[in-house]
Amino acid sequence: MREDRRPYWFKKRYLQFRGWYTAHFLAPACDELGEYATVMKPWYVSISGPNIRIGRSATIVGEVDSRVKIGVWGRDTGQGSITIGDYVMISPGTRISASDEITIGHSVMMAHGVYITDSDWHDVYDRTQRSDAVCPVRIGDNVWLGDRCTVLKGVTIGENSVVAACAVVTRDVPANVVVAGNPARVVKELDPERGYTPRGAFFKDPAALEKFYDDVDHMVLSKNGTLNWLRTLVWPRRGD
Ligand SMILES: CC(C)(COP(=O)(O)OP(=O)(O)OC[C@H]1O[C@@H](n2cnc3c(N)ncnc32)[C@H](O)[C@@H]1OP(=O)(O)O)[C@@H](O)C(=O)NCCC(=O)NCCS
Repeated sequence: MREDRRPYWFKKRYLQFRGWYTAHFLAPACDELGEYATVMKPWYVSISGPNIRIGRSATIVGEVDSRVKIGVWGRDTGQGSITIGDYVMISPGTRISASDEITIGHSVMMAHGVYITDSDWHDVYDRTQRSDAVCPVRIGDNVWLGDRCTVLKGVTIGENSVVAACAVVTRDVPANVVVAGNPARVVKELDPERGYTPRGAFFKDPAALEKFYDDVDHMVLSKNGTLNWLRTLVWPRRGD
């Protein structure tokens, strides 16, 4: 389909259903899911375990072939936590798995297939147990984690830094740098004097943003007729 052929009324109902699904199934799975969360295809997002908190205006995108999985498997009942700040982007295929503690700052962007874990989950000698060592992961505000990168146990990433696609981060990363490779090394220093525009800047007035998107949908989709849309589903033509 080259264009969105859905009629406005249908998209509006779809978004209402999506919001209901998020509130009904995902919000109760978290200790906190902040206001104005946008969860696309929330039926492909799994949240499991205790002490999971996600701030306001989160964007989380599930896909059928790339589920988002956010889970705490603590050492005992009620233990372990994942705390995620405001305005984060969590792309399809992202997995965040905490044994003890993972903290993710505000405006952090996670690209497709990011993996963050604070544990190896098996001791290298005793494969039946996890190590006793507690190795929290801390990701600073405005960090950008590139496509399919991995952040391993005990790592702290300083604010504003960028992890390049496919990097494997095994050691701490300072603020304001780009790291790349496996194991990840600093490949570039960023200049904080230039100033960053974090993701949160986009969400200053979330109610106005929602209205803006609704106005755009109304403008673009109002011309779409219901019968023609149904026809495109069962009998698509070139150019649809
Ligand atoms: C991290 C990134 C944004 C940095 O871009 P940049 O600032 O233009 O960096 P440069 O291209 O100048 O690269 C700097 C150095 O790092 C190396 N490098 C960059 N990305 C790399 C990667 N993924 N793996 C290994 N090395 C990498 C470059 O080869 C270069 O090395 P050199 O100085 O020896 O020539 C970019 O490399 C990247 O990974 N983009 C993917 C972002 C992404 O995942 N987007 C998905 C949507 S959110």
